[in-house]
Amino acid sequence: MVERIAVFGAGLMGAGITQVSAQGGFQVIMVDVSMSILNKGISTIRKNLQRRVEQGKLAPEDMEKVLTRIQVDTKPVQPAKYCDLIIEAIPERIDLKIELFHELDGICRSDVIFATNTSALSITEMAASTSRPDKFIGMHFFNPVPMMRLVEIVRGEKTSDLTTKVAADIARRMGKEVVFVKESPGFVTTRMNALIGNEAFHMIEEGIASAEDIDKALKLGLNHPMGPFELVDLVGLDTRLNVLRFLHERLGEKYRPSHLLEQYVKEGRLGRKSGRGVYRYTEKNESSS
Ligand code: NAI
Repeated sequence: MVERIAVFGAGLMGAGITQVSAQGGFQVIMVDVSMSILNKGISTIRKNLQRRVEQGKLAPEDMEKVLTRIQVDTKPVQPAKYCDLIIEAIPERIDLKIELFHELDGICRSDVIFATNTSALSITEMAASTSRPDKFIGMHFFNPVPMMRLVEIVRGEKTSDLTTKVAADIARRMGKEVVFVKESPGFVTTRMNALIGNEAFHMIEEGIASAEDIDKALKLGLNHPMGPFELVDLVGLDTRLNVLRFLHERLGEKYRPSHLLEQYVKEGRLGRKSGRGVYRYTEKNESSS
């Protein structure tokens, strides 16, 4: 029975996963490399919860209850000893993830489930660095975690049926819907999204339409909630480029990153986080091309 979760990484995704875990009634320890990052994560969670209180979606006393379920730590040992489930949300690098899981495998009880929030990397490869490949699974959350309804439950080669069921039940307790996916580079969502996003860059290169009109076409004509350029600016152009490079290497030519995307990343146009991606962002977060 899972009651205590340790979330590794307090960045964009880790803070969100911590929040929905605590909202789902779990005790959570959020782990990152420094207190300043953890404090930033907690302050994001507090702001998100405060907004829900103002919107009437959460009672003020429940906000405090959610916050009291969250602890933080800069070292992995205590959280690893205490938890029933690990959710990893550290940077998208297989070497870092393997190193962390290998270390945790030596500390955690043998029944503890390991979940990774990777967007595209191999679950099986990470699982192989542990002594528990049957208890290893992908729980792919979406950004921003508190708002997005889906979790992709990704099975590696050796993931057991029981682990899959437990992970799906936990995601549902966090208020999420699930889909089940067999491991494959980029799963369903990252693979589809990378292809659409790359095609959009090719269209600019070919002079087919402006960025604004491509975004407008997909929103008003295809009912996408955001245009592909608005979305890549949110996700980060560097993150998207890394994903495309990985898919290109594993799945072939169709996923070769567009030259324009490569060029923007070289110029430091990384999206909202750097003030300029496909669009420019002012301090008020208004965009212009
Ligand atoms: P981020 O860069 O915002 O946060 C990563 C955090 O991990 C940093 O705060 C870093 O200090 C921390 N960290 C690094 N090594 C650590 C360790 N050994 N122990 C504890 N903390 C450590 O990254 P972000 O965007 O939150 O992504 C995390 C994961 O989630 C990646 O695998 C990414 O592919 C995946 N993801 C990202 C999405 C996005 O839109 N950004 C969407 C879905 C999945």
